[in-house]
Amino acid sequence: MDKIIVTGNGPLNGEITISGAKNTCLKLMTAALLSDEPLTLTNVPRLSDIGTLSELLESLGCEVALLNGGNVMVLSAGTITNRKAEYEMVRKLRASFNVLGPLVAREGEATVSLPGGCAIGARKVDLHLMALEKLGATITLDEGYVHCSAPNGLTGAVIEFPFVTVGGTENAITAATLAKGTTVIKNAAREPDTVDLCKCLTAMGAKITGAGTSEITIEGVDRLHGATHEVIADRIELGTFMIAPAIAGGEVELIGGRRDLVDVFCKKLEATGVVITDTKRGLKVSHNGDRLQAIDVETEPFPGFPTDLQAQMMAALCTAEGTSKLHETIFENRFMHAPELIRMGANIDVQGGHATVTGVSKLKGAQVMATDLRASVSLILAGLAAEGETTVGRVYHLDRGYERIEEKLGGVGALIKRVPE
Ligand code: UD1
Repeated sequence: MDKIIVTGNGPLNGEITISGAKNTCLKLMTAALLSDEPLTLTNVPRLSDIGTLSELLESLGCEVALLNGGNVMVLSAGTITNRKAEYEMVRKLRASFNVLGPLVAREGEATVSLPGGCAIGARKVDLHLMALEKLGATITLDEGYVHCSAPNGLTGAVIEFPFVTVGGTENAITAATLAKGTTVIKNAAREPDTVDLCKCLTAMGAKITGAGTSEITIEGVDRLHGATHEVIADRIELGTFMIAPAIAGGEVELIGGRRDLVDVFCKKLEATGVVITDTKRGLKVSHNGDRLQAIDVETEPFPGFPTDLQAQMMAALCTAEGTSKLHETIFENRFMHAPELIRMGANIDVQGGHATVTGVSKLKGAQVMATDLRASVSLILAGLAAEGETTVGRVYHLDRGYERIEEKLGGVGALIKRVPE
């Protein structure tokens, strides 16, 4: 397995092009199962998670072709040849569970492995199942598999989520597109990923209103057809690379970045003393290299501060002036980067879902490793301004969600290299 070595090297300058959004692309890929005609996705990020889901879709009978160096994906699910998503595949990627809605909607039956535990918390799927039951599916659990059956098709219903679930909302939406009658989803996710999925489904012939609000209405149709859809920019990659010049100083333009994707995050970053400007091609982040100011952050569903940017923001706050408080409200175990940042000299106290970060003037490079994607990248960010060398192990986490990270950060002047472990 590879590791990444980062050496603190002063300000970063230049531009970074933001890729298509991983989380969005995964859900768009599952939508291909709803139609016997091809779905073409453009602006597809080249990431191992995308490859993992492609394998699962292929095991169900969906052909996946990559064109233009992997940037364009054509998914053709002419005939579903298998209605069972095996544990071996689903366990690698929780988003695989989102094949359940499309499969049962189209085939009247599906068996999908439970995704199992995950490093950032219990991550249950009870609300996904509640939604499908409301749509008339019968659900049984057997030997780690969810069997979902609706031999006469699904029927529209009112689904009210007790709290926001992105994956649950998306499974409910895809299932409802082919249900008989109208489905109303209350307390729906408003994430840009969910909005983009609705856009793509609409291009495929689905009738959806209210995407981007907490009430989404889906009028079921008999069939969906093929379409071509461009994956939106990855707001988490955008936020991650916006933090790089905040930590190291300099001026970096994020091509394809959009403030509306990360508005609350931008306001928080600005409160630390960083300057963000809209440009014709994206967003520009400038920072003179002075110490950032401490801020308080609470993660929330969109449009709030994203949990997927909490670790990166913590990395920046480790060297801020003053004491910052971070409150993680989405996942119960999402401070795994804290002990690693402490190994680099940070002063962090974690109590349950609360972390108090008392800024120190400088971090020191160390050997670190993290057990999830966003935690891993926060260590790379911390290494950008640390004294000496930071070695980040278990790079496969990074490859799940960041396309060519060493090239992108290297391109703006970071000293970063990948070496075999
Ligand atoms: C998605 C994102 C992930 C992001 C998260 C929150 C993808 C592939 N992943 O994950 O990067 O961090 O949204 O923005 O899109 N929950 C239940 N029961 C359920 C479903 C969820 O209790 O049936 C809980 C989860 O354990 C968690 C919270 O609800 O505590 C939110 O989870 P959810 O929004 O569903 O996250 P994901 O869709 O898994």
